[in-house]
Order: sequence, then C-alpha cells, then structure tokens
Amino acid sequence: MELYLDSANLEHIRQAESLGILSGVTTNPSLLAKEDPKVDVKKRILEIYKLVGGHLSVEVISTETTGMLKEAYDILKWFPEATIKIPMIPAGLSAVRKLSDDGVPTNVTLVFSANQAIAAQNAGASYVSIFMGRLDDISLESARVLEDICQIWEMHEYDSEIIAASIRNPIHLTQAAMAGAHIATVPYNVLMQSLKHPLTDSGLKSFLDDYNRLQTEISKLQPNRIEIVKPNLTKPAPKTNKRGAIKKQGL
Ligand code: G3P
Repeated sequence: MELYLDSANLEHIRQAESLGILSGVTTNPSLLAKEDPKVDVKKRILEIYKLVGGHLSVEVISTETTGMLKEAYDILKWFPEATIKIPMIPAGLSAVRKLSDDGVPTNVTLVFSANQAIAAQNAGASYVSIFMGRLDDISLESARVLEDICQIWEMHEYDSEIIAASIRNPIHLTQAAMAGAHIATVPYNVLMQSLKHPLTDSGLKSFLDDYNRLQTEISKLQPNRIEIVKPNLTKPAPKTNKRGAIKKQGL
C-alpha cells in the first residue's frame, strides 16, 4: 500500500517527504483553507509539487459538470501533472467520464459506499477515495465498507486505485492495508504517530545505555598507556652499553 500525505502544510509535507516513504499528496479546499484562508491556491499547489513530485490531487469546487470541467482544464493549464479531484455526485460522474475520455487522471472523492465506488470506476476514475473516519463518525464500520469495496475490485479486476482517506488514527491505516487499499492518504500527525512504538523507544534507550556502560567498563580495564617511541630507521640507532647508557660515538 502506498502512502500519500493528506495535507496542504508545506512544513509537514517537507518533513514527511524527508522520510522517503511518500508517493504523493492529496489536498482539498478545507485543507488549503486550514493553512491560510487567503492562500494562493495555485502557488501553494506548485510549491507542494516541487517538494513531492509524485501524485498530487487538486479538487474542483464547482458542483455542475460544465463548471467542474472548466476548473479542471484551467488547473491543467498551470499544472499539467494534476490529478483532478471530483466529488461523488451525478454531475461529478459526468465530468469524470469526459476527463477520463480526454486522458486526464481523476480522483473521485467523498465516496462512502460500494455502489458509489462502482459508479466512480465505471465513469473512468483513476482513483476512488473512501472516507474512513467520516463513516465511523456516523457509526458505520469503515473497515468493513473498505473491505467490501476492495473485494469487489479484486473480483471484477477493476483498474482504478482505491485510496483510503479520512484516516484519523494508526488503526485506520492498518485496516486500510488489511482490506487491500492501494493507497492510504494520511494526515501528518497520524503518519508520525504510526511510526512510533513504546517498545522501539524503550528498546533503543536500553541499547544506548548498555553501549555507554560498555564503554565505561572498557576504559576502566585499559592498562596505563605506554608511550611507544618509534626508532628512527633512517639513522643508525646510537650504541648503548649493557646498562643502556649511550656510548660516546668515536671516542
Ligand atoms: O482526504 C480526505 C480528508 O482530508 C478528510 O478527512 O478527517 O476531515 O474526515 P476528515
């Protein structure tokens, strides 16, 4: 399962990218507004792409097919590598069909059921984003929904990629991988939390403590250091008598 960062925060994207485990970034209007309500979207998206270089989903805000298509083609003018994120509404499906026919990659977002996912696949979506956290928020078991969708994908050999989104905790991340999602898009705090384990921290502490103890013992056991003077091999060594006194040369 590939990992994307679900963020529009440059510092978080830079930090996560430095780990060498990211394949892309997903954004949405809420994430962009969270950073700065007056953010220059075009500038921010291009900055993110410069940092990550892989998949980058950019969402349209129109709710009409023509508006979505206009926005999508505008985005593609200044960012030809964009994956266009389209909401899972009937008008969105028509936009996905047109973009797909034109060879533009799309990510259908706000998908909460197997039937919505199947519709997105049939419209020609490249990616289908299933929102786990928001399903759990209304007491629907997100892991179960995602498992069903992944099973359907396998049975029918669908070619779009399933993105597990709205990931709120490390358990969601594991559940997404177990279900067979191709990608999980993860907020920075969850990504960092998922790397940590108390046994890793305590194990590392004891390795380092033991190493330091070992160094202390070794330095205690070392005999007094003896200064060894190397003989000068270019000149013959001065002759000494039996007691080691240097004999005066030539006398
Ligand atoms: O990728 C979708 C994500 O940003 C939504 O997350 O936590 O607002 O449901 P959340």
